[in-house]
Amino acid sequence: MEIDDVNTITVLGAGNMGHGIAEVAALAGYAVNLRDINEEFVGKGYDQIEWSLGKLAEREQISEADADAALERVTTYVDLAESVADADVVVEAVPEKMEIKKDVYTELEAAAPDRTVFATNTSSLSVTELADVTDRPEQFCGMHFFNPPVRMQLVEVISGAETADETMDLIADLAEEMGKTPVRVHKDSPGFIVNRILVPLMNEAAWIVESGDATVAEVDSTTKYGLGLPMGTFELADQVGVDVGYHVLDYMHEVLGDAYEPSPLLEAKVEAEELGKKTGSGFYDYEDGDGAQIP
Ligand code: 3HC
Repeated sequence: MEIDDVNTITVLGAGNMGHGIAEVAALAGYAVNLRDINEEFVGKGYDQIEWSLGKLAEREQISEADADAALERVTTYVDLAESVADADVVVEAVPEKMEIKKDVYTELEAAAPDRTVFATNTSSLSVTELADVTDRPEQFCGMHFFNPPVRMQLVEVISGAETADETMDLIADLAEEMGKTPVRVHKDSPGFIVNRILVPLMNEAAWIVESGDATVAEVDSTTKYGLGLPMGTFELADQVGVDVGYHVLDYMHEVLGDAYEPSPLLEAKVEAEELGKKTGSGFYDYEDGDGAQIP
């Protein structure tokens, strides 16, 4: 398939990443089918797209007309088979657990047309292992966006062991059509490139706080004003989801060894379901006085 043959993109998972990927695809002019496992989840994802498009228009980064047109291109689904019936490309952004993703790919393989290319937004899991669940590992690669997708420039395009060059070319072209900068990752290793660097940074920050050597605020000040990153390390953990960082780390620990052992502080936040912005609190609080969540 060539990039000009791509008209419809299905995004599986309407969460933090899924809704953002759907928004980016709709802004690029594609028809987008956004699917999640129930009306509540998919409805929330749709509302977040509407909020984000409104915000972009308010800040004059896009026109009101472009915001309205992008939203009109998004159709929501709960039924997976219906959502992929006309899909040229499927971008999967379901929770970062190997078993959940494998179940989705089993269902997807049975439902999707033969021509459809599968791209996983996994943050760290083996693209090769996920592709093996399907009958089309050559039409399968990683397409890893960064949070928030509508603002972040990079997309890692990751080759599995059997990914065809045409699939890598197609997905890199698609990232460019979406206004992004693709970086091809030829080795399918845990965390790919960005998370291999970024997640241990979050973990080390958590170990520093855990050991009492510095506070969350002190660490974040040094990250912002010393290392020059746009957000503090803990602010970023709250932005991407403490659970997302934790699961990436846990997988890197399992595959790459003890250097990646997750800090108990991260583990405690996940157990307490204080996952960052999406739950209203993480290392910081995001609720206003009325209990409404600050986006
Ligand atoms: N859509 C639309 N608007 C948004 C938005 C979204 N999704 N998210 C935030 N905004 C809005 C805010 O509401 C705010 O608007 P307001 O001032 O009217 O309230 C405005 O954007 C802030 O934008 P600014 O450009 O003024 O702010 P910043 O300069 O701080 O930029 C940022 C925001 C782009 C998020 C920047 O802080 C940043 O780059 N942070 C780092 C993010 C990052 O590193 N992400 C990668 C994480 S790793 C990852 O995702 C991988 C995964 O696998 C773990």
